[in-house]
Amino acid sequence: MTPLGEILAARIRSGGPILFSEFMDAALYHPELGYYRSPRDPFGTQGDFFTASQLQPVFGRLVAAAIRQYLPAGAAPTDFTVAEWGAGRAELTEALAEFHYIPIDSGSGEVPATFEGVVFSNELFDALPVDLAQRCGVEWRMIRVSFGDGRFQWHAAERLEEQWRHYASDLAAPLEDRPDVLIELPVRLRPVMETMVSRCRGGAFIAIDYGYTAREVVRFPQGTLMSYRRHQAFDDVLASPGEQDITAHVPFTYLERCAAECGMSAAKLENFSQFLLRAGETDQFAAALEAPDEASAMRLRLQLKTLLFGMGETFRVFSALIARPGMGSQKS
Ligand SMILES: C[S@@+](CC[C@H](N)C(=O)[O-])C[C@H]1O[C@@H](n2cnc3c(N)ncnc32)[C@H](O)[C@@H]1O
Repeated sequence: MTPLGEILAARIRSGGPILFSEFMDAALYHPELGYYRSPRDPFGTQGDFFTASQLQPVFGRLVAAAIRQYLPAGAAPTDFTVAEWGAGRAELTEALAEFHYIPIDSGSGEVPATFEGVVFSNELFDALPVDLAQRCGVEWRMIRVSFGDGRFQWHAAERLEEQWRHYASDLAAPLEDRPDVLIELPVRLRPVMETMVSRCRGGAFIAIDYGYTAREVVRFPQGTLMSYRRHQAFDDVLASPGEQDITAHVPFTYLERCAAECGMSAAKLENFSQFLLRAGETDQFAAALEAPDEASAMRLRLQLKTLLFGMGETFRVFSALIARPGMGSQKS
């Protein structure tokens, strides 16, 4: 049992089964023992997984090119804020140095009270705690986490309250014929998005992540929860809390709805490869691939290949305008 596991087990013994979002929140973000708070670096070869952010400089250069398209004519890039939520190791710092770049992570980075610019995130939304619901016959039940026989277990608990019952039954409609359907409830998505948008006086929102649209839910009748450790995926997300990553695919149709309800406009959901191609097309990737020598050039070409062909179809990019009266729209 991990030290965090002991804490969670004691909490369950005294208060009963906990929501999965509470378990996931502690597993990832407990101030001392959470996966993202431990001194061990989860990113890269020695860690548990890679993200596009480790493919520097090419990823950063293409993100910078995409962000430049939102810069109002005549505005100085240094006055244009790029607030990266869930910045992790802040690996975009160098590539975004032309802007007023602010890396924000849970427990670090100062969110400005108000700014004009771009709210950017890469693999933030898949790391937000979710609840879990199961369709049992005609009912939707919350699936909590209990503790017994020395391990954490799933526990079918109370009926879903109305808002999330509607969410789950609408989303699971195409899975009508499947028994025991599991759906994650993205309970933190909207509050986080509201915080982001409330700070931005005008500009754009760009979120890169993996996930599914409502039409694609048929691929995930048992939900999408997954753990990562040492570059391997595990489906036992209750094992070893604090020592393995836990993720849930992003429900893009819900994210789009929240964005519209938060006042965003001109929303677009595209494959990561399309986003990269648009960002690089102006100069045929010349700036993204600029290198001082052939060995570096080769390394950069490999990075672009990994981004386009390794991640390009798995990841998607949601972008939209955060309106401010009088603000121009995207140039291209
Ligand atoms: C999968 S990592 C991605 C890190 C980085 N963007 C990258 O691409 O390598 C998710 C990050 O989101 C951060 N995070 C989670 N919830 C957050 C929140 N509400 N606000 C800011 N950062 C958050 C986590 O601490 C973690 O560093």
